[in-house]
Amino acid sequence: MTSQRIRPEHSRSPGCFSGERGRPHPEHGWTGPWWDQAVQRIFPDRRDLDDDAILDAYAYPAAHAGRPYLRANMVISLDGAAQGRDGRSGTLSSPADRRVFAMLRGLADVILVGAGTARAEKYGPAESGPDVAADRLRRGQRPNPQIAVVSGRLALDPDGPLLSGPGEPTIVVTHARSSPERRRALAAVADVLVIGEKKVDLAAVLGELATRGLTRILCEGGPHLLAELVLAGLLDELCLTVSPIVRGGEALGALAGDLVPDGAMRLVHVLEEDGTLLTRWRPQRDSSTSDRL
Ligand SMILES: NC(=O)c1ccc[n+]([C@@H]2O[C@H](COP(=O)([O-])OP(=O)(O)OC[C@H]3O[C@@H](n4cnc5c(N)ncnc54)[C@H](OP(=O)(O)O)[C@@H]3O)[C@@H](O)[C@H]2O)c1
Repeated sequence: MTSQRIRPEHSRSPGCFSGERGRPHPEHGWTGPWWDQAVQRIFPDRRDLDDDAILDAYAYPAAHAGRPYLRANMVISLDGAAQGRDGRSGTLSSPADRRVFAMLRGLADVILVGAGTARAEKYGPAESGPDVAADRLRRGQRPNPQIAVVSGRLALDPDGPLLSGPGEPTIVVTHARSSPERRRALAAVADVLVIGEKKVDLAAVLGELATRGLTRILCEGGPHLLAELVLAGLLDELCLTVSPIVRGGEALGALAGDLVPDGAMRLVHVLEEDGTLLTRWRPQRDSSTSDRL
């Protein structure tokens, strides 16, 4: 595969893979450079991984070509919280999580996110640095992944960075019962799709994204959207970071919704750096890339 190095320029500072998760947080003592720290694979084998090897470990399955492949990426504390003490995910993150978060964005065609997360995490457009953009172009992708926000209420700021920022136009996915006035206002700055009657039909959304050539779909949550995707049997893969932090208190976990009837998963790999565990899971019954959770 082509080389795709993630350097400090790809940090999620404003204008560059915007969002807060992954910011090394001084509270946890993660203040030093993170891009040259060693990531070790500890399952299924033991070896040190450089950036190219990490990217290989997260390569999308070749056999998925032409159909949507949905990967989700979340970070949780040791006690299962998906929200840090400030109500956001950045305070749960670590340098290793930040590194893989950026790499997963670099590999994706589109980032699917719930409006709750877009609001809480102050999403902006995802902008690749020059090296990542060049690798994406070589793979036949656009320089930056698009962002697709799922929302019923459409309480999204048309003048905010997500909708009016530079880069690929943001896709807003809503349902037929949403406010026509809000749809019109947002349509001036975004690509507004109406998919579903009373709520957004997520299976149809994945189909629509694939029709647009956006088959490598990365869901960055949040817990409500992810739960719906899992319940609908649409998830192909879960990348779950477990941070060496005990949070305590009440918080949403990685999924917030109804019980999942058959949630058994198969472990694909575990990477480790400084106590952070980067795990990758596929549905237990998966025997080919077409199986879903
Ligand atoms: N630890 C992590 O990795 C991680 C990742 C992401 C988020 N988070 C945290 O999770 C929290 C947000 O959680 P959340 O569960 O509220 O966020 P969410 O799942 O991103 O957003 C929920 C919202 O998405 C929209 N939505 C979802 N499914 C829909 C459907 N089928 N039809 C129509 N609209 C739909 C609705 O938006 P409207 O309200 O606009 O109708 C709903 O209120 C924040 O604290 C954030 O920091 C953590």
